[in-house]
Amino acid sequence: MKEKTYQFSYTVVEDSSALEQNDANLLEEARALTSVAYAPYSRFHVASVAQLANGQIVKGTNQENASFPVGICAERSLLAAIGTLYPNEIIETMAITYQPQEGESNRPISPCGMCRQSLVEYENRVKHPIRLVLAGSEGPVYIIETAKDLLPFAFSEGDLK
Ligand code: THU
Repeated sequence: MKEKTYQFSYTVVEDSSALEQNDANLLEEARALTSVAYAPYSRFHVASVAQLANGQIVKGTNQENASFPVGICAERSLLAAIGTLYPNEIIETMAITYQPQEGESNRPISPCGMCRQSLVEYENRVKHPIRLVLAGSEGPVYIIETAKDLLPFAFSEGDLK
């Protein structure tokens, strides 16, 4: 019998003013974008903005539906857009933020399980990590070097063989 440990490192930045310029810009764009999320049911607006290796910036927001499970998260709407507009382009960094219609946004949120699976699929597809910048509208920012760190034991293509 053997006990194993899973651990990963991430960076905590005290607030967005201490970020490097590229990350600060991306997060600023994401914060502004929360206003166009379509979230009339949860009233929880999420936005994500990606910096691609080709220099393009692509944006996504959560898009809900009266039939609740039909709704899609900001991260997966963004990945779908990137996969369509710039197939196989590397995503260097993705900023993710949120703004509830009522309540605070002063700490990071991290992608839901389904989005983690989609992020890992994209990393495997283009063989490049996606750097995540996670924050609220204010407060600390988490930087995670690869989405894989958030999904240990991920199911992936190799498991189908
Ligand atoms: N949501 C996202 O868009 N991304 C996340 O990482 C967490 C949750 C959305 C789904 C739903 O529209 C709303 O936030 C509340 O769960």
